[in-house]
Amino acid sequence: MMQYVPGLEGVPAVESRICTIDVENRRIIIRGKSLEKIAQEHSFEEVAHLLIHGHLPDADEAKQFTRLIAVERRVPNAVVDVVKSLPAETHPMDALRTGVSALAPFDPDLDDTSPEANKRKAARLVAKTGLLVANLDNLLTRRTFAEADETRGHAENILRLIRGGGVEDWMIKPFEILFILYVEHELAASTFTARVIASTLADMYGAVVGGLAALKGPLHGGANEKATEIFEYDVAGAEKYVRERLERKERIMGFGHRVYRRGIDPRAELTKRLLEEACAKVGDDRLYRVADHVERLMEKEKGLYPNLDFYAAALYKLMKIPPRFYTPIFAASRVAGWAAHVIEQQAENRLFRPRAVYKGPLED
Ligand SMILES: CC(C)(COP(=O)(O)OP(=O)(O)OC[C@H]1O[C@@H](n2cnc3c(N)ncnc32)[C@H](O)[C@@H]1OP(=O)(O)O)[C@@H](O)C(=O)NCCC(=O)NCCS
Repeated sequence: MMQYVPGLEGVPAVESRICTIDVENRRIIIRGKSLEKIAQEHSFEEVAHLLIHGHLPDADEAKQFTRLIAVERRVPNAVVDVVKSLPAETHPMDALRTGVSALAPFDPDLDDTSPEANKRKAARLVAKTGLLVANLDNLLTRRTFAEADETRGHAENILRLIRGGGVEDWMIKPFEILFILYVEHELAASTFTARVIASTLADMYGAVVGGLAALKGPLHGGANEKATEIFEYDVAGAEKYVRERLERKERIMGFGHRVYRRGIDPRAELTKRLLEEACAKVGDDRLYRVADHVERLMEKEKGLYPNLDFYAAALYKLMKIPPRFYTPIFAASRVAGWAAHVIEQQAENRLFRPRAVYKGPLED
């Protein structure tokens, strides 16, 4: 008898040296280091280097890798034209998926799955996905594709281009910390998808396109866009919103997690602190009060805790980032994690080929 575990809950599917979730101590470890710590102490480029190359860069390596990401941010005109040809109302995640797919034939290393070629593709994918995300609004509204400012980091460029100006100084550091918090989270559905695709020895672009498709779903990355709804309300309105939905047995987006069952997601905890500080800086604590109230209410009513997407939605709202770009921003960061998993998978490959417990008819 094969033992069936719905949703593969708790089933180890790979051995990995990339990331683990220490549920007991509520820590996320990336290549031996605490994610919460590196998010506050390093740039996104340094953390991407840690994921792709296996170690934090020294000063020279950091300079070189940051330069490489800046150079690789260029996106071929043909890819710009493909995304511009989509209907204006296309969801940005669909436009991004199409754009990343269209990048593939331009990569000279496309079908080389060696670790060295995969590391080169990883840097290109991180760089170009970020710039595509930053330009999704320009592309879908047929405006000019905006190039990045080479003197600024990757995360700051994305923030500036998505906001289209008006970035205030207080936004830059919290945006980058939150961007890094999204970078890697062990075998999330999108990462597992990317690894399954990589295990057929298909190319890294295909694996990332699959990851993007999985990330869009509201039970995964799409939750941050949906979670923003509640932040339209004041405390009383938010409480009514939650109670009505729970009564109708609907889910409150940004709550619950397959792995963190008995406490707040540690990334959400840090983002909550960033939100509190940011609210103090802008002199308006409504979003913090709403979030804190809903957090307590959900714990009391359902025994559920916020995940990163809940507090990310509040912080992005404070930064006036349009909600439909929340999940693409998540993707622009997570692409570094997916790439690291593709490199690891293809370096020690075993094709994924599980079995199904058959419940259908047997006629003869
Ligand atoms: C993330 C998620 C899919 C994890 O699911 P899970 O741990 O497998 O939990 P289940 O789907 O088995 O749900 C268990 C129970 O909790 C409830 N529940 C789980 N998340 C809930 C939520 N966000 N709001 C309300 N109820 C929720 C379910 O309805 C179910 O209740 P029931 O036993 O009365 O039917 C789930 O919590 C969810 O849908 N959250 C909202 C989407 C989200 O924020 N996703 C981002 C994850 S990082």
